[in-house]
Amino acid sequence: MSFQKFTLPLAVLAGLGGLYLLLSYVLAPATPTDVFDVKLPKLSQKASVGHEVFKENCAACHGENAGGTEQGPPLIHDIYNPGHHGDQAFYRAVRQGVRAHHWPFGDMPSQSQVSNAEVAEILAFIRETQVANGITSKPHKM
Ligand code: HEC
Repeated sequence: MSFQKFTLPLAVLAGLGGLYLLLSYVLAPATPTDVFDVKLPKLSQKASVGHEVFKENCAACHGENAGGTEQGPPLIHDIYNPGHHGDQAFYRAVRQGVRAHHWPFGDMPSQSQVSNAEVAEILAFIRETQVANGITSKPHKM
């Protein structure tokens, strides 16, 4: 009798535990990995340094490999080809931040902790990765 008294609550508890595990797995918030599957090329020395700087300062919004997250757009994207967003756009974005205009993510805050030399390294990473993903310079037509 006492055996049964225990097994039922235990079974219910075990069931609830299992349900909890299942739900937390299904409902887990997405980690900030890239939305788009970016193909990483073999990066030059400068671009590898840039990738590290990028992961530290930009990846939370733009994704590990700049493929975008739920917080920010992909930079390995045709909109950011060098003909439409030249290198100046990157220096400006880091210094002054960006007012939302292309995407529904909101404004980008300035990243004043990143130096111009580091932006140059980030640019090496972005441009080499863009080319590896078929994004090349196109004239600005807007
Ligand atoms: C807090 C989130 C966040 C961080 C951190 C962040 N960005 Fe952004 N960034 C955004 C968002 C959002 C946009 C899109 C704004 C729009 O056009 O709607 C953007 C846009 C840009 C643009 C496009 C600028 C333009 O002229 O349209 C560049 C370039 C850029 N980011 C580079 C960077 C770099 C480099 C870093 C790291 C040093 C960085 N971002 C860090 C959120 C972020």
